[in-house]
Amino acid sequence: MHEAGIMTTMDPQTLKQFILFQELDPVHLAQVAAIARERKFAKKHTIFMEGEKGTYVVLIISGIIKISRSSSDGRVKTLALLRPKDFFGEMALFLPGHERSATAEALTETRVITIDQVDFEKLLKDVPGIPLRIIQTLAHRLQAANRQIKTLALGDSHSKLADLLLWLKDEFTNSAGGPPLIPLTHQELADLAGLSRETTTRLLNTFEQEGVVKLKNRQVALTNLETLKKYAT
Ligand code: CMP
Repeated sequence: MHEAGIMTTMDPQTLKQFILFQELDPVHLAQVAAIARERKFAKKHTIFMEGEKGTYVVLIISGIIKISRSSSDGRVKTLALLRPKDFFGEMALFLPGHERSATAEALTETRVITIDQVDFEKLLKDVPGIPLRIIQTLAHRLQAANRQIKTLALGDSHSKLADLLLWLKDEFTNSAGGPPLIPLTHQELADLAGLSRETTTRLLNTFEQEGVVKLKNRQVALTNLETLKKYAT
């Protein structure tokens, strides 16, 4: 792991924000605090690459993580964007060979907690509730992946982009209270939608002319959700 910095002493309250640990009593929380390590990554830092051996699970305190896979000719498919309170890196621990199934990159400056495989497995055995939370998260991911498969297989470019923007609206909330704001570049949106960057820019410009989105400061504001829903598959 190419880590940018390690800190010690985990505050149990920081752990409580994670769905995995929400219901833990103080004794179990202290057990997690003792094995959790905090790390910081700079924007664009690759945390691990697909195919590497995975030996730890990662929980996001702050920042956005891009999960992607790439083809041998260098094309990249973003599978998911993960946010604070999400976790990742559990699949390699459960699969034979322990290979990372995808690459994880910090899209923004990021703070995370890592827990080593042996400690994590012990937690799963010792602390009731955590396995159920993991199953719920995996079910949610499968649902999102099925949605991506449907859109990639059946949607035209118009509906692929509309569907993606609607999905992302729940991933990024606008703290200022205005229309949902998606802080991604055209290239990042293209990777997520499975479209070329050029098609994505052309469609975004069309959407803007139709009043469905507003493009400003490298962000996409969703100004007409009803029309966007009609465009989506
Ligand atoms: P792991 O295979 O250890 O490393 C890559 C991680 O990305 C994987 O564990 C999961 O935690 C996460 N991941 C892989 N595929 C998806 C997906 N489709 N959606 C969300 N997260 C994923």
